[in-house]
Amino acid sequence: MCRRCRAVQLTDEVPREKMFHDEYPFRTSSSAWMSSHFAKVAAQLVDTLRSPDPFVVEIGCNDGTMLETFAERGIRHLGIDPAANLVAEAGARGVLARPGFFEPATAAEIRAEHGPAEVVYAANTMCHIPYLDEIFAGLDALLGDDGILVFEDPYLGDVLRLGSYDQLYDEHFYLFSATSVACIAESHGFALIDVEHIGVHGGELRYTVGRRDRRRPTPAVDRWIAGEASEGVHDLARLASFAAEIGERRDRLRRALQDERAAGRSIAGYAATAKSATVLNYCGIGPDLLPVIYDTTPEKQGRLTPGSGIPVEPFPTGPDGYPDTFLLFAWNHAEEIMAKEQEFVARGGRWIRYVPDVLVG
Ligand code: TMP
Repeated sequence: MCRRCRAVQLTDEVPREKMFHDEYPFRTSSSAWMSSHFAKVAAQLVDTLRSPDPFVVEIGCNDGTMLETFAERGIRHLGIDPAANLVAEAGARGVLARPGFFEPATAAEIRAEHGPAEVVYAANTMCHIPYLDEIFAGLDALLGDDGILVFEDPYLGDVLRLGSYDQLYDEHFYLFSATSVACIAESHGFALIDVEHIGVHGGELRYTVGRRDRRRPTPAVDRWIAGEASEGVHDLARLASFAAEIGERRDRLRRALQDERAAGRSIAGYAATAKSATVLNYCGIGPDLLPVIYDTTPEKQGRLTPGSGIPVEPFPTGPDGYPDTFLLFAWNHAEEIMAKEQEFVARGGRWIRYVPDVLVG
């Protein structure tokens, strides 16, 4: 945790080209719920637009799911994403997008071509970017005087509350809070002007940031910052007890898997999420405890999970091919998954979860 701004962050930085490239496997559209979430976000953003011919930019636009709403309404927009494979998919949706990382030079180019942006949006992207100085320099170049940055990322307070330690993985360089984002924004000539809690991905905050002294912050900003102080979200003792609790939960998860196997029940992992890499490696779960993980993403199928070497395969075509028990890695999509896997449960299938605690049944 940074002593100055209080952002919780990884100590190792993976070179960005190793993570974000032309084979980036995650698609926003792979979750029906996330697609509907982003349609709502887009509609909300449209309502905030003030100028007669607004221009909206999304950093990390993925396959264009969010910007599609703007494209459909004829609103000038541009997505930028280093995953050229997904930028092509965005194009096929009618979304204007360009491949690349968002940097000051790119921002200046975009402004020269399209004019100033009224809104820059980023979902689950800012926390992936260690070099925030450059991002803010880019925003300074791109945003109009009253332009805003709106971004949403997993929230430190929810990670501590739920013990969702798998939010810590290579791509999630930062775990932000209202306190840390306010400080980071201020040190770049901006200000945090609104905070909203959203339920997706196990709890996120949506931050709105504007140029300093251009827009009056909502009361939510002070309320969130005061709440974080009173709840001790940035206290080292709280972080230490989080670590201790996670260590115990690791043992309970291993035991739950061993018990299922000892009872002769077959087990498979549900979704080879990025988060699962943390769980598998931290808990020492390999193919001996978990022989396979099923996932809908073509790029992941036929590969092995990093470090733990568990094969990733497509889901069996019918519930007959399903295991007796699923270890749920995509717990942040639980509602959507439970709705579609009712038959598995009706046939006596069991779920093992590990957030907010190890639960079998
Ligand atoms: P993520 O949590 O790292 O973003 O990845 C989510 C993964 O979960 C993605 O590879 C697709 C997969 N998935 C399924 O396999 N089935 C599902 O029903 C859902 C919602 C996701």
